[in-house]
Amino acid sequence: MYQHSLHQNISRLVENHRLTKEPADFAFYTRLIANSAAIASLFESIYGDHPQKEEKFNVLIETMISAHLSRRAALKKTDEKKLEQGNWHLSQEIVGMSLYVDRFGENIQGVDKRLDYLNDLGINFLHLMPLFESPEGESDGGYAVSDFRKIDPRFGSLDDLHALKLSMENRQMYLMLDFVLNHTSHRHEWAMKAKAGDPHYQDFYYMYDDRQLPDQFDAAMPEIFPESSPGNFTYVKECRQWVMTVFHHYQWDLNYTNPAVFIAMLDNLFFYANLGVDIVRIDAPAFIWKRPGTSCQNLPEAHTLLCLLKQCLQVATPGVALLGEAIVAPAEIMKYFGEGLYAGRECDFAYNATQMALQWDALATGDTRVMLAAQHLLMRKPPGASWITYTRCHDDIGLGYDDSMIASAGFQPYEHRKFLKEYYSGASADSPATGALFSVNPKTQDARISGSLASLCGLEKAQKEHAADARNIAIQKILLMQAHSFLLGGIPILFYGDEQGAVNDYSYLADPGKSYDNRWMHRPIIDWKKWEAGKNEDGKRIFLSTKKLISIRKKLPALADRGNISWITPHNIHIAGIIREIPEQRLYCLFNYSNRTAYLTWFAFKESGKAVTRLFDHWTEKDMEVGQDHDYLILAPYAFHILEAVG
Ligand code: GLC
Repeated sequence: MYQHSLHQNISRLVENHRLTKEPADFAFYTRLIANSAAIASLFESIYGDHPQKEEKFNVLIETMISAHLSRRAALKKTDEKKLEQGNWHLSQEIVGMSLYVDRFGENIQGVDKRLDYLNDLGINFLHLMPLFESPEGESDGGYAVSDFRKIDPRFGSLDDLHALKLSMENRQMYLMLDFVLNHTSHRHEWAMKAKAGDPHYQDFYYMYDDRQLPDQFDAAMPEIFPESSPGNFTYVKECRQWVMTVFHHYQWDLNYTNPAVFIAMLDNLFFYANLGVDIVRIDAPAFIWKRPGTSCQNLPEAHTLLCLLKQCLQVATPGVALLGEAIVAPAEIMKYFGEGLYAGRECDFAYNATQMALQWDALATGDTRVMLAAQHLLMRKPPGASWITYTRCHDDIGLGYDDSMIASAGFQPYEHRKFLKEYYSGASADSPATGALFSVNPKTQDARISGSLASLCGLEKAQKEHAADARNIAIQKILLMQAHSFLLGGIPILFYGDEQGAVNDYSYLADPGKSYDNRWMHRPIIDWKKWEAGKNEDGKRIFLSTKKLISIRKKLPALADRGNISWITPHNIHIAGIIREIPEQRLYCLFNYSNRTAYLTWFAFKESGKAVTRLFDHWTEKDMEVGQDHDYLILAPYAFHILEAVG
């Protein structure tokens, strides 16, 4: 469509809705016109051949208009404030936590009651794990949604969520919710209608009468849950069709070649945005476009659809940032920030899953070289885009970084991964870790790792064996892992329970709806009585140290993600070092991944070309003279330092 007729068409649609002359309406209209060419061209590149493309495009514009019209005035004010502030989401003052409302606080109201606890720790950004209706026993932790607009009664109601959101606003806390874009539960209304034979809704999914296309797809598609859900299709007796189910058999993949699916899901996304969500976590975006003969992950059309979502949000609900939950290889992940014309205009955040896994790699081997080998790729993100940094989340730890990175450190990739899997699953006798292998693929021998931060760092074993030294070492490792993720560029998100040193919770084994999925071992049920009785000595130490780390992060402006990170040349393979620098502040953050004392030559501090004579360590709160006392900086086993150049 030519620019002129596009604008005319949009003006006509807008006029039908009688936008007022209010500044908010005017600003919306201006954004709509300014972004319309991009939206039209992204839409055209996906749906250009669709017979009803013009009609559907108009529905898309109408959907944006109604999202704007139903946005509360207070949220429009917040939008404006965020736009003025620019890059509000990069601040070092934001520190997040992911939690299940039921396992952390019984329900949404219970979480409200724990906001003081979270504030005390320093958390000002909450990721509430999936809240919307999802069939019990077939829920994948809430990622199989049967109603995108109804809170699961087990957690509370929309009113409870509104009340929590208001309490959070009063405390200036940000909110993140999940948006499960790739699939619905097989009990979602659309899927039920498709099962009953309604062709309109059958077109919402990938459904086939015979195995011809499913076989073609399967030949090139990897399996996500090979143990519990092998293959990528499920036979549905009711309609005698094969349905694409990449994750579990009860999660039906949505068919985004159908524009009606895109528009219906965009409308759901706006519903979340208008609940007051600050960041939307787009679940599994890598999977939203499928083509036979490919892995059906990270396809270019998936990026086009994400860019389209982002531009639509930018127009109607501009205060909302997007986190793309793509847990993919380092070279692929960068594409989620947008490329070419759309660089910095796709997802605002991505998980730094590679760095997370590489920290676990370095912790097991005591060697930081594989981690360093990945950084040249990870540093190339566009301005304005940022990472979510973390050590653990509700999912497993995948070892999907490139073989070449492992090889460049002198290790053999297959043997190296085998070592890591044995180390963390507790299979090797001399490992302190207690974890388990997740989703072992018997055909490829691939596997990922489950286990809580504390258990993987050795605390569970040390507590069982009443080994005081081992407990201290485990706590030191936990803090090292957290410190590294807090000091890298990006927003850190803690996983609930980790701040208390929660070890694996095996109660999931007694629940048939969960026992097939060992990721539940690291999704603990918090025992507040025990915590408040103050008997968890290790937990208290971890809590206080985590709190200190958070407060250090918040007061150091050089830690805001302005792409201002450089890695120090490893003069010692056990130590990872980063420099975070802005004109007013230079920080040297050092991490010793080895179980032995490590020495770092002062020469490492001269690398940036700037003279340093005195350093202040924000962690130990001590000053040190460069080159005095020792020829080296001495780092105790698993120690870290946050050194600011002060002279
Ligand atoms: C994401 C979620 C994971 C879930 C999957 C399918 O990867 O983090 O927990 O199993 O999507 O929805």
